[in-house]
Amino acid sequence: MRYSKILGTGGYLPEKILTNNDLEKIVDTTDEWIITRTGIHQRHIAAEDENAVTMADRAGRVALDVAGLKPTDIDMIIVSSTTPYMVFPSTACLLQERYGIAGCAAFDLNATACAGFMYGFSIADQFIRTGAINHALVIGSEVMSRVVDWDDRSTCVLFGDGAGAVVLGPSSEPGVLSTHLHADGTHKDVLYLPLGNNKTPNLESVKMMGNQLFKLAVNILGDLFDETLEKNNLQKSDVDWLIPHQANIRIIQAMAKKLEMSLDHVAITLDKQANTSSASIPLALDEAIRDGRVQRGQLLLMEGFGGGLAWGSALVRY
Ligand code: UT7
Repeated sequence: MRYSKILGTGGYLPEKILTNNDLEKIVDTTDEWIITRTGIHQRHIAAEDENAVTMADRAGRVALDVAGLKPTDIDMIIVSSTTPYMVFPSTACLLQERYGIAGCAAFDLNATACAGFMYGFSIADQFIRTGAINHALVIGSEVMSRVVDWDDRSTCVLFGDGAGAVVLGPSSEPGVLSTHLHADGTHKDVLYLPLGNNKTPNLESVKMMGNQLFKLAVNILGDLFDETLEKNNLQKSDVDWLIPHQANIRIIQAMAKKLEMSLDHVAITLDKQANTSSASIPLALDEAIRDGRVQRGQLLLMEGFGGGLAWGSALVRY
């Protein structure tokens, strides 16, 4: 059997930090409201000369280094971003040019929002599993600070910037056990980011029906966990780590409860990084691997959920 396996991870966070207290000076909010309702204490904000490409570059190089690979070993670059530097060339192509590896497949996933990383991870897994390629670099890179309305307290407090990267490669042992992708466009109105009809900038700002989205997230992710574990004939108690999308601590708590798992076994970066959309899962995974919590051989359940609606999961033997 041929599987794909996580060979390396990397992350990048911009230097500038915006705290909840800083936000109190921008919109009518309080540190207490943000912490109680979301679990967020601070977020990183990209500098003017940073963008999805520069951040993906930094995270990707770390992941390659950890994997012990050179850029020339990569056969496919997938970048998920709702905030790409350009519509085209893709962030992945701009990254490929920086890495000097012209020729390999490179593309962006930009329509899957916060679930984008799970979509990219799943695509890379299929290509490696079938033997079509050997190594894939999958990155989530987001400059959410450029697409939030800084006058809208209900959304601007939620997001942050950053990039996370994973290198996947072939293995005769598991590896990625299964991935699961879904979408439901009937919920298109609960979370969306419209184009600005050729105005400059050509994007408007994130619109969210937070309360409805919250309930959808809890129900959908609960079913997703059942589907993922059933597919592999595994029990909740087999999962060592939950690596969730970081949207709201209350959603994460509900997911840990669903898995009958202590929060000590959940990778949480939300407090320091807020919701970095498609970068949040690889960033959380990278931190938990880097500080030694996640160990080789352990079973990881990764999940993402976002605008579309689109959602996905992966069960991974790290
Ligand atoms: O990454 C993609 C997936 N994202 C999600 O799944 C997000 C899901 N939704 C959520 O995380 C939560 O719904 C939010 C954090 C967005 C909002 O929390 P909530 O507990 O659902 O609050 P709410 O929207 O029901 O608002 C409660 C109150 C409102 O005031 P009234 O109408 O009760 O007087 C809001 O106006 O809180 C008010 N409010 C705020 N107050 C202070 C909304 N934003 C703020 C704020 N500061 N920043």
